[in-house]
Amino acid sequence: MTFNIALVGCGGMGRRHAHGYIELRRYFDTVSLAAVCDVHHDVASTVAGIVAGATGSRPDIYTDFDEMLERADLDGVAIVTSTPMHHRFAIRAMEAGLHVITEKPMGLTLKACRQMRDASRATGMVMAVAENYRRDPMNRLARELVDSGGIGTPYFALDMHMGSSDGAVMHSTVWRAKKEQAGGTVLDAGVHNADMLLYLMGPADSVYAETSIFERERILRPMSEVAPGLAKMYDHRREDGYSTGDAVEQTAVDTAFGVIRFKSGAIGQLSMTDTSHGHSLGVSTISGSDGTLYRPRSRSGESPRIVRGDGSEVTGNALLDLVPDFELDDITSSLWDGARRISSYEMDFSTIDSKILAYEYLDMVRAAETGGQPEVGPKEGMDALALAYALIESGLAGAPVTVDDVAEGRVSGFQDEIDAEMGI
Ligand SMILES: NC(=O)c1ccc[n+]([C@@H]2O[C@H](COP(=O)([O-])OP(=O)(O)OC[C@H]3O[C@@H](n4cnc5c(N)ncnc54)[C@H](O)[C@@H]3O)[C@@H](O)[C@H]2O)c1
Repeated sequence: MTFNIALVGCGGMGRRHAHGYIELRRYFDTVSLAAVCDVHHDVASTVAGIVAGATGSRPDIYTDFDEMLERADLDGVAIVTSTPMHHRFAIRAMEAGLHVITEKPMGLTLKACRQMRDASRATGMVMAVAENYRRDPMNRLARELVDSGGIGTPYFALDMHMGSSDGAVMHSTVWRAKKEQAGGTVLDAGVHNADMLLYLMGPADSVYAETSIFERERILRPMSEVAPGLAKMYDHRREDGYSTGDAVEQTAVDTAFGVIRFKSGAIGQLSMTDTSHGHSLGVSTISGSDGTLYRPRSRSGESPRIVRGDGSEVTGNALLDLVPDFELDDITSSLWDGARRISSYEMDFSTIDSKILAYEYLDMVRAAETGGQPEVGPKEGMDALALAYALIESGLAGAPVTVDDVAEGRVSGFQDEIDAEMGI
């Protein structure tokens, strides 16, 4: 039986989803992209054309989400709009009897996420989140190394992502500069880092953070200058009301330095900024009683490394001796051409990105078909967003917050204004 899916939001990430679907079709013919939707017809049309060129089947084009939902043949929807629409479209789709996969962050705020979670419970529809980093086979290996005691007892994790947008609007997307649209690197990118920390270290208890908006005046620059590696995925999108060179007010937090206490007792540092000019720093390590795990960049295919106290290093296939039970699951293995026990792989970024997206679709479809939960469902999506928002809420409050309080809405000072503005 074919699972018919519709894609809403055909901007930069929507185009990457189309490539994920094309990759999926190379291995599985059980999913069909029946429709694509974007408020801009030409933007949706570009994505439909890419799919048609690669698969021979052109998805129907819509500019109105509700009209698309009236189709009787859909089984699921992939939501890849900018973040404020995630909860609205997800709830509408689930109430119409469709399964959902939404891009990260799961929703605009934790209140939006709770509404999505409740809709999934009430309707019985799958609510999956397209959180991609953890699905990288090297992050699967990293988790197995931590869980199997490869670094002994984990003491602390460092996750620092200090980059520079060079005074420009992040990713040339104005919504990423705006508080009420869940913009800013701490949320939009930090939710990935948060998910990875939770994936590797277990649940988080409390967070204390200092936050700032250091650069309130940004300039809209072309993606080819801001993020050249992704530019070809974004060259068809439209930025309504703004032109290249325009000044844009940044209202979203652009910097957070946070300290986390995990429920295990371990400590974490999660620091994010796009204002670190002249100093680009990416640190992803976990230190424990028997050494430090250096995590490779997600989607690089590089091997993790463990460095012991005496300076000796374990990397590549030698890592596999530490994890005799490590094996990629069936879907990942199929997409990675049959690989089961690997410690690195060589593929370009776009291919890796597409394979992971293919995995995410198949994970959602499997959950729908078996009545089970996707790997990243409402709980995991909310946990990651709650941790990212905990940094921002703590920064506003000037005090530590618990992640559970943020998840359940007992601490929401920063988000209240967003919820009010969005009418939820
Ligand atoms: N997982 C990842 O690595 C990753 C990477 C980038 C973006 N994302 C997420 O994907 C989402 C989209 O990001 P993007 O970079 O593609 O942004 P984008 O602005 O390039 O694309 C969003 C698209 O949604 C469309 N849209 C907006 N409102 C709509 C509506 N009401 N109906 C139909 N279409 C509508 C816009 O026209 C635009 O084309 C965001 O939530 C973002 O956080 C995830």
